[in-house]
Amino acid sequence: MWRTTLVASSFFWLSLVLLVSGEPMTEFKLEARPEGITSGPGSTLYVSQILSGSVLAIDADTGEQTTAVPPQPDGRQAWGLAYHDDMILVAGGGPNFGGGIPEVYVYDATTGDPIVTCEPISLNETDHGAFLNDIAVLGDVAYITDSFANTIMALNLTLVKQQGNCTVWELYLPDPFIPQNPSDWGANGIVAYEFDNGVSGLLVAHEILGSVYSVQRIEDDGTPPHYQEIIGEPSSDIPPALGADGLLMVDGTLLYVTQNTENQIGVYNLSAQATDGVLSTTPLGVLTSPLFDTPAVSAAYDGYIFSTNSRFVALPEISEEADDNVVGVKNLYCCGNTAVDETITDAPAPAATTEAPNDGGGGGTDATAAPSGADTTSGAIGSMQQLQVMSLLGSFFGLLLALLF
Ligand SMILES: *[C@@H]1O[C@H](CO)[C@@H](O)[C@H](O)[C@H]1NC(C)=O
Ligand SMILES: *[C@@H]1O[C@H](CO)[C@@H](O)[C@H](O)[C@H]1NC(C)=O
Ligand SMILES: *[C@@H]1O[C@H](CO)[C@@H](O)[C@H](O)[C@H]1NC(C)=O
Ligand SMILES: *[C@@H]1O[C@H](CO)[C@@H](O)[C@H](O)[C@H]1NC(C)=O
Repeated sequence: MWRTTLVASSFFWLSLVLLVSGEPMTEFKLEARPEGITSGPGSTLYVSQILSGSVLAIDADTGEQTTAVPPQPDGRQAWGLAYHDDMILVAGGGPNFGGGIPEVYVYDATTGDPIVTCEPISLNETDHGAFLNDIAVLGDVAYITDSFANTIMALNLTLVKQQGNCTVWELYLPDPFIPQNPSDWGANGIVAYEFDNGVSGLLVAHEILGSVYSVQRIEDDGTPPHYQEIIGEPSSDIPPALGADGLLMVDGTLLYVTQNTENQIGVYNLSAQATDGVLSTTPLGVLTSPLFDTPAVSAAYDGYIFSTNSRFVALPEISEEADDNVVGVKNLYCCGNTAVDETITDAPAPAATTEAPNDGGGGGTDATAAPSGADTTSGAIGSMQQLQVMSLLGSFFGLLLALLF
């Protein structure tokens, strides 16, 4: 069991925020640079620590931090995460940025022990390196992006769980995902969606172009996938979400695009036609926070969005551990952050707390277990504003304490 308490000092910092806000923990100070974040069972948020390859489990109700996956040997790093069937999946990055290995590591979520290491089929095929970045789970399959190739690695998790067997196939993304140079980050965040009417698929973000594509027909039967650009130009009329990193679906229809270089999260409402699966996208606004410092990936819990601060802009060398003031940042569920976007007034209510284990995919995805329908109730705006005030107080005291200690 790897359940050692890590950061005793952070309890003081965190408990004060709790006292002030009276809400679930909304901010977490981390001792190492994070990247991925995903919802685990109950109030657990898993957060990857890039350089050590370890994964923290943060209890979002109490702020307690424990080690879910211990630091790994042999230079194994931890970037995007997914949680499924008591397994934690970790994307290992690659040599082109930070010096990781393009592999997917699967760990037992209860013990932290490694189950298996899986390798993609196509590796470095564009000659701009390989970088396994983020993971989504749909059904019993994990889908992993490679930021310097137009391939998505698909991995059967039933076979991983039952036999430790990495049965891998791949999907091809459209041409914009083929990098032209080694700084041309293509595929980054990935998330699964599943609408009430049965339409399901994946969303994949192109970081540099700021576009998001829907990918359907992802079965392992030789059928070419079907793509639709839902955000970005030229084929979508929705403006690009530049720096698109982690993708998150909440309540079945709300898409959160964590835009690292922009220090914001774009929020969109999606729907799909049952007849042909065509998606419609409505931009709802953006979330920002004075605490954002190149946020990479977000997860949702109990009415809050939690985002990792990767600090890639402030500290571009991954070897700089950035251990002094990296924080997980809380934010509001959706678009009622009037301090940020005055134009949004019709905000949906924060979703009810989901006690059921969140068996989700990349970046906190859970296409299957998420309650569907963002209930807009008449009390929504008032309670959102109350939450905002509480969060702002929390931020203020958090910052104050961060400065003091
Ligand atoms: C893979 O990509 C890197 C750039 O990250 C390049 O330097 C290297 O030559 C490539 N390796 C192979 C085997 O193609
Ligand atoms: C994964 O493997 C299991 C066990 O062989 C199989 O039943 C299931 O259909 C596979 N899933 C996919 C999507 O191929
Ligand atoms: C893994 O599973 C696949 C599909 O069932 C099978 O063809 C392959 O032989 C298995 N590999 C091992 C090492 O068991
Ligand atoms: C999202 O779209 C659905 C379907 O069009 C609609 O019922 C819902 O109210 C919308 N939600 C928001 C927050 O705009």
